[in-house]
Amino acid sequence: MWVKVLDQVPKEGTMVEIVVKGRDSLIALYQAKLYCADNRCPHENIKLTLGCLKGHRVKCSLHGFSFDLITGDSACTDVDNLRTYPVKQENNNIYIETFI
Ligand code: FES
Repeated sequence: MWVKVLDQVPKEGTMVEIVVKGRDSLIALYQAKLYCADNRCPHENIKLTLGCLKGHRVKCSLHGFSFDLITGDSACTDVDNLRTYPVKQENNNIYIETFI
């Protein structure tokens, strides 16, 4: 099910916090492509929006692990992958696909 989460596109190279059905998530825009993922670090559960965007990876501010916003890959066998979600834009509205 697609859910409208924003009525404007985030600025290039930034992340925006959203809450969908009680779940903290983030929307990021990098090189004109949108990404959506949980906004909780799988390592110790802090907000990833406190970190920074490095291309299509988000780097956590606490211990520096980074997660691929396309695949969720943590690039570390000791850290779970990040959950990502399909995202689309229609006009200026942003939608994510949720399964909850
Ligand atoms: S809490 Fe994010 S890397 Fe440790």
